[in-house]
Amino acid sequence: AATPAPFRPGLEGVPATQSSICDIDGQRGVLTYRGYPLDQLASSSSFLETAYLLIWGELPTTEQLQEFEQEVQMHRRVSFRIRDMMKCFPSGGHPMDALQSSAASLGLFYSRRALDNPEYIVSAVVRLIAKIPTMVAAFQLIRKGQDPIQPRDDLAYAANFLYMLTEREPDPLAARIFDACLILHAEHSLNASTFSARVTASTLTDPYAVVASAVGTLAGPLHGGANEDVLEMLGQIGSPDQVAPWLDRAIAGKQKIMGFGHREYKVKDPRAVILQTLAEQLFDQFGHDPMYDLARKLEEVAAERLGPKGIFPNVDFYSGLVYRKLGIPEDLFTPIFAIARTAGWLAHWKEQLGANRIYRPSQIYTGQPSRDWQPVGAR
Ligand code: SDX
Repeated sequence: AATPAPFRPGLEGVPATQSSICDIDGQRGVLTYRGYPLDQLASSSSFLETAYLLIWGELPTTEQLQEFEQEVQMHRRVSFRIRDMMKCFPSGGHPMDALQSSAASLGLFYSRRALDNPEYIVSAVVRLIAKIPTMVAAFQLIRKGQDPIQPRDDLAYAANFLYMLTEREPDPLAARIFDACLILHAEHSLNASTFSARVTASTLTDPYAVVASAVGTLAGPLHGGANEDVLEMLGQIGSPDQVAPWLDRAIAGKQKIMGFGHREYKVKDPRAVILQTLAEQLFDQFGHDPMYDLARKLEEVAAERLGPKGIFPNVDFYSGLVYRKLGIPEDLFTPIFAIARTAGWLAHWKEQLGANRIYRPSQIYTGQPSRDWQPVGAR
């Protein structure tokens, strides 16, 4: 066996794979998907085009994109069996738990062990990209006691999700900005949920279990769940003049400031920069949100106190303000993150199949030395 590498908590700095999907320059705050800068994709591409790029490695031609969009459109609907299953879920349950269960249940409908069949790979990608948003929207309505709204064939991907939440056709700017948010959240190299996806994929289980495993990981507040907590934190602070005293108390109490910090970025997350411009576009069109001024003030004060430690806003800091302006309920913020990141998880699933080696890292044993069992009376 190879000489064991030094133990690094959270595998910090430990390369767990080789990958050609996404590159992060944490010092310069630059993120590229298959070599393309994120800001170019966010302003010029679409989520489905970006998903295609991430999964198959190249930007699609006109024909390839049309075919992919049509395939996704044809598979948007979700079986009544899954919708009926959701009707049995507790209505107070969190949508991430509903999504994890329903994503895993897709595996009950499709054959599991056809990973050597390229057709199976494509159909699994299409089904998951197509059905995840429908399942998120369906549970949202079901838990309100309403019937889910069927997807409309004449609406593009992002617009269709907003429509399925509200039964109203979204404003074109809102749909465009939501599509850009999906691009921004689509992929981020070996974050915790993508690592889960790769470990799960490495056992050659079905892709539905891979996505379900990643959804469960993303749900944690230290990972995808932070965007929900940021708005709650801003609500607690209350007003810009309360920011400095609140932050000093939080830092003194060793509290993690939600939406700040990152294992890779030691400067402001480039996605936070783009999300701010999207938020400002929405405020110009639909009216200002004073909570944004509070967030800007927090960022400014935190720059003095946490900036020297390389702690700056991450992707979760402004995303909640964009979704709030789009009228999206707070506990759907992380499910939306999951809708987008399904593209990245599937790209890594496909790449892991090619790596074809099960993850089985070593450990440093710190437990008891060998010892004999004692009968209960002798303990
Ligand atoms: C995402 O990995 C990805 O790529 C994730 C993601 C993606 O696209 O998939 O980018 C999405 O998950 C964004 C992060 C969302 N989570 C949060 O905003 C929660 C708050 N952030 C922290 O929990 C933390 O910054 C993490 C989890 C994001 C990163 O943690 P690390 O790299 O393990 O850093 P750490 O916990 O070891 O902290 C290092 C130091 C510590 O100080 P010391 O003990 O050395 O004195 O920095 C401090 C920490 O206390 N620190 C913070 C802080 N984050 C780190 N202090 C206050 N507030 C914070 N947010």
